Amino acid sequence: MPRKGVFPGTFDPFTRGHNDIVRRSLKIFDEVIVAVLVNLDKKTLFSVGERLDLIARELGDLGDRVKVASFSGLLVDFARQSGATAIIRGLRAISDYDYEAQMALMNRSLCEEIETIFLISREENSYISSSLVKQVATLGGAVTNLLSPLMEQAVKDKLKLK
Ligand code: PNS
Repeated sequence: MPRKGVFPGTFDPFTRGHNDIVRRSLKIFDEVIVAVLVNLDKKTLFSVGERLDLIARELGDLGDRVKVASFSGLLVDFARQSGATAIIRGLRAISDYDYEAQMALMNRSLCEEIETIFLISREENSYISSSLVKQVATLGGAVTNLLSPLMEQAVKDKLKLK
């Protein structure tokens, strides 16, 4: 049985930090499903369709061990239906811990069989968040260290920046 992990998130946009977590997850899992949450209440820069397309292009070199999908509803239901045994999350700093522990405990109470595993972000990615990336880009700051060239261009196009 191939070992599958789900890497869920909003990914608005998908950062260098997210990219690194997917690549490192492939050392542990046979298949990684990047799962984009469809959240109609949250205002996002990119539509779900745009995010799916951008992430698939960004991770295209990794071949068919990486799948990109959207989900709505409970993450554990999506994980179960996909045949995944684990949820993968990146941990940047201790400030992530409370929120992540709450989600992991809630998910375990909903579904005992699915484990959450955390990968510690690389130092150089530890300050990157999608919301700060959007803020910096909107204000004309450089996001080259935070996003791949593909994502950087997509953000600039969206914000109509040069
Ligand atoms: O990138 P984000 O916004 O930190 O990701 C949050 C995400 C998508 C992992 C979380 O909001 C989620 O799993 N939502 C699905 C709804 C759900 O399953 N809720 C119960 C568990 S907390």
